[in-house]
Amino acid sequence: MLSLNTSRSLRAASQFMQHKSKGLLSMSSCSSASSWRSFSTTLANSMKVVHPNYVPPSDQSNNSSAPLEEIQYVAPDEDGSLASPSHVTFYDIEEAFARIRPLLPPTPLQESMVLTHEIFGSQKGILHPRKVHLKYENKHMTGSFKERGAINKLASLTAEQRERGVVASSAGNHAQAVAYHAMRLGIKATICMPENTPLAKVAGTKRYGAEVVLIGESIDDAYQEALRIKDAENRVLVHPFNDNDIIAGQGSLGLELLEQSPYIDTIVCPIGGGGLISGTAIAVKTVNPKIKVYGVQTENIPSMITAKKERKATMVPFKSTIADGIAVKRAGDLTFPIVDKYVDDIVSVSESEIAHAVLVLLEREKTLVEGAGATAVAALLSGKLPEITKPNSPLTVYV
Ligand SMILES: Cc1ncc(COP(=O)(O)O)c(C=O)c1O
Repeated sequence: MLSLNTSRSLRAASQFMQHKSKGLLSMSSCSSASSWRSFSTTLANSMKVVHPNYVPPSDQSNNSSAPLEEIQYVAPDEDGSLASPSHVTFYDIEEAFARIRPLLPPTPLQESMVLTHEIFGSQKGILHPRKVHLKYENKHMTGSFKERGAINKLASLTAEQRERGVVASSAGNHAQAVAYHAMRLGIKATICMPENTPLAKVAGTKRYGAEVVLIGESIDDAYQEALRIKDAENRVLVHPFNDNDIIAGQGSLGLELLEQSPYIDTIVCPIGGGGLISGTAIAVKTVNPKIKVYGVQTENIPSMITAKKERKATMVPFKSTIADGIAVKRAGDLTFPIVDKYVDDIVSVSESEIAHAVLVLLEREKTLVEGAGATAVAALLSGKLPEITKPNSPLTVYV
């Protein structure tokens, strides 16, 4: 299990531990993609020694003279890309993280004693008890992780594209994220939202200066209108998930998580169009392929589960849901192949299981989380992910 046979990996591990104890490996000291790259290289090599789940790439495990960079990464596909037809690579995510971090403070990662006890019981006498950590992505200014992708996309636009302005479609969270960061960067934004979007999200989007168009029953209807405006007004489309810059931006969450909890071994993540889980899975599985990544959808709109069954993104019927943030009728063409390749399993939860999770988070954890954010907690509370119950290292749930 432990590879203590090379002095180099011991050195890397002890350097990592010393740096970590002195706080020298905090990401605040990594101001560029290259410094993060050296951080993650050290991290990956340290895991080789100290992480019980670390699996060295088989062709290099006995080659102590292999360069550090070669040891770290998952083997590329035959075409040389690391990921999938979307061509989002670990390096894109590193760059996105470097671009995003000056504009976006990290969100808290905290153990939920309530959920740990609720799901795993007292775990008396277990050497490494399971712990549930919540990653509080609802603490962003606009209330969700969507700011990560929005910043990465908007900050990557050319001066000419910024001048033309952007258009986006969203059930609310992507809308507010695009509106807020477009305002910060001085870019005009129009956002198309379904007519049933919660009023607070519509008001939030308008507050940041975006023009709002309310149209149709689902995000897919709003998307059609965004496409029309894009062509009619020559705008740049900021897609909520089916876009490489958005996927890479959301993937920064995986790197932030590894920095906060290097020994994490399981991640549970809601899925709408699949941008969040795609970026996260590429990021964390590149550093440590043994980390398990599970996705959760609402039973009412299981678009990614259907895509997996039918081997392609397919439209599913719309049914109303309290998880309005993930009410996406068709998985992304870019995200589906990444999810198919990297995500270990996807489960669905019922509306009442989601409602129960919202209530547990509110009453017991004293945290208000929207339906979409509570789906991962719902999957744990309802026992839909039995594999996660073995005693081991920390488990993280995105809210
Ligand atoms: C709170 C929340 N969680 C998860 C998701 C799913 O993200 P994705 O569409 O990238 O799968 C969304 C989508 O908007 C969301 O709003």
